[in-house]
Amino acid sequence: MRSALSLERARAEDPPLLAALEAACHSHPWAESQLREEVSYGSPGAVLVLRGRGQPRETWGGIRAYCVYRLIVDEMHILNVAVAPAWRRQGLARWLLGFAMRKAAREGASRAFLEVRESNREALSLYEGLGFVRVGARRGYYSEPLEDAVLLAHEGLASGQP
Ligand SMILES: CC(C)(COP(=O)(O)OP(=O)(O)OC[C@H]1O[C@@H](n2cnc3c(N)ncnc32)[C@H](O)[C@@H]1OP(=O)(O)O)[C@@H](O)C(=O)NCCC(=O)NCCS
Repeated sequence: MRSALSLERARAEDPPLLAALEAACHSHPWAESQLREEVSYGSPGAVLVLRGRGQPRETWGGIRAYCVYRLIVDEMHILNVAVAPAWRRQGLARWLLGFAMRKAAREGASRAFLEVRESNREALSLYEGLGFVRVGARRGYYSEPLEDAVLLAHEGLASGQP
């Protein structure tokens, strides 16, 4: 399956495609301008994209999954991850995040953090499977709908992630 995919940094022309995919994945999606900012922000951090190869007519320009993270000194902050609905439950998110975590570790991160809606069981299961643990909550963190966030952390990034 992976051989049919390419992994790359998002390209300058990707933000409109990412914004369309984002709208299909989140109740309160990031705006194109926000995605453009992350794509142009670059290092330290990245917008990583998994793209299908050889299928030019594929929706969203072939982008099947993406993740956004920033590196702040020795902390990796995972800001966004999504997989196109038709490509879920095939291990793409686990693989992409695992890659991003190893990359961040090589770049100097020893810990990773993220927030997730408390009702998002799929994502919570994904993150806990990657070694994240619950370290707190942020009340009313999300809008549309209003919801608390669970704060997750992964300590020992350099040594333990899959
Ligand atoms: C959450 C999301 C990224 C998972 O992507 P995915 O590629 O389907 O996930 P994977 O196939 O890599 O699954 C990895 C693990 O995640 C969990 N998981 C994923 N989808 C799940 C589901 N529908 N139900 C329960 N657990 C699920 C499981 O633990 C799974 O491991 P398993 O297959 O061994 O059971 C995807 O559902 C998505 O894009 N959701 C909308 C956007 C979103 O919620 N992003 C996270 C915001 S913090």
